[in-house]
Amino acid sequence: MKSPAEVRSSSWLGNVSEMSDALSFFSVLAPRYGDVCVFRVFSERRFYVQNPDLIQQILTSHKWVRTPISRKLLGSFLGESVFSQEGELHLSQRRLIQPAFHRERLAHYAQTMVAQTAHTIAAWRVGEQRDLVDEMMRLTLEIVSQVLFGSSTSHEARQIGEALLIIQRSVEDDYRLAVLLPLWVPVIRFGKARRAVKVLQATTQRIIAERRAAPREHDDLLDMLLRTHDEDGSRLTDAQVCGQVLALLFAGHETTANALAWALYLLARHPHVLARLRAEVEAVCGDRLPSITDLPHLRYTEQVFKETLRLHPPAWYAERVPLEDFQLGDYIVPKGTAVSFSVYALQRDARYFEQPEAFLPERFAPENVGKIHRYAYLPFGLGAHQCIGNQFAMIEGQLILATLASRLALSLPSAYQPQIRALITYGISNGLPMTVVGQRAEPTHTAAADAPSQAAH
Ligand code: HEM
Repeated sequence: MKSPAEVRSSSWLGNVSEMSDALSFFSVLAPRYGDVCVFRVFSERRFYVQNPDLIQQILTSHKWVRTPISRKLLGSFLGESVFSQEGELHLSQRRLIQPAFHRERLAHYAQTMVAQTAHTIAAWRVGEQRDLVDEMMRLTLEIVSQVLFGSSTSHEARQIGEALLIIQRSVEDDYRLAVLLPLWVPVIRFGKARRAVKVLQATTQRIIAERRAAPREHDDLLDMLLRTHDEDGSRLTDAQVCGQVLALLFAGHETTANALAWALYLLARHPHVLARLRAEVEAVCGDRLPSITDLPHLRYTEQVFKETLRLHPPAWYAERVPLEDFQLGDYIVPKGTAVSFSVYALQRDARYFEQPEAFLPERFAPENVGKIHRYAYLPFGLGAHQCIGNQFAMIEGQLILATLASRLALSLPSAYQPQIRALITYGISNGLPMTVVGQRAEPTHTAAADAPSQAAH
């Protein structure tokens, strides 16, 4: 067995000070120290891995779990959910949620995605400047809230959404701390978020209690979770439904919003890509709004979204610990030792992607896909915790991009530079100020098979 290279550190803090810019810190490790190295948080040793096959081994083995600190962090404000669960419990709960993401359900959600996007941009006027980061955040939150709770409870859903945004920001501060603290620190106080957490849980529990008291069809994801049964007849308790609903709200909007904001930024800076995307949407949809049945023909739009997720992966970083000593390639990772990897650095590694810094949607064209290492592109993770909403997110990303590109012309100041915020998710911290310079009239019709049922209001 080999000993991994040790990352240099000059103080008793280990590499803590460099980790305050974690994105840059992890990006230089593989070029300097190789695929596997060890860095230090105070005196605690942690592994860093940047090799697709080794990452695949970690993510697909049941001998690895999320770090106790990240489970505690997410569990402390979401309650029990797939984020904090591991092993059998995680598997059985995930199985109960999975039907909510079946194909026919996704087709139903797609109607909400397009209707809500059309409704949002109908209020925009030529000459107006909008912050597209903010707009995408609101839009994806509205979509996931509607999908979860339906329009009947949209007022409460909005309250939940607002509480969630407060929590997300303050939890990110705690997360920064959690990543920097050694794993043995037993308790972290997530003070700032606690009040908003109470609002969030109370509102969700009230909606659940109302539904249980007066069961009627709502045709939304919450209904599905309340009614869902496993093969053995087991079902989710109210507390479990609450935790899973909050997990879906949490995971289901900021990631997609960040991806969309990055896509709009990249399109603004690559007019030839935008022109090709627009031409595709025009050829497939003509004057009407896009629908899920168009997606197999919106291939270039898909490539644009995939390439955005490669250059700017919203879930850019992950950690795991082995439950027992684990042989990882030529190295032994001792039980309980944290292993970090940066999806961001992996997806920009020149060994796996030619011209890694370039925005080249064609690399995801069918004729090129085979050239990409299977485990070097992991925007949705892999294994037991792989994103449960990956198809949802892909459909949402493509439909929103297609709708925006076909109905609006937006311009971005040439001097604008995005500032990166890389904490739990990876996004733009200084907004995306875009001006509406052209707008197409309201569509006269939608695809016959796909008319929005949840009318925008
Ligand atoms: C572009 C958008 C998205 C990206 C890049 C993304 C990425 C990810 C990644 C990388 C993971 C795995 C994290 C890990 O291994 O520790 C994950 C988990 C998860 N995602 Fe997503 N996600 C997106 C959208 C969504 C949406 C729309 C939903 C739901 C509507 C969702 C729900 C979840 C849930 C519930 C988990 C936890 C799964 C588990 O632990 O079993 N995600 N996501």
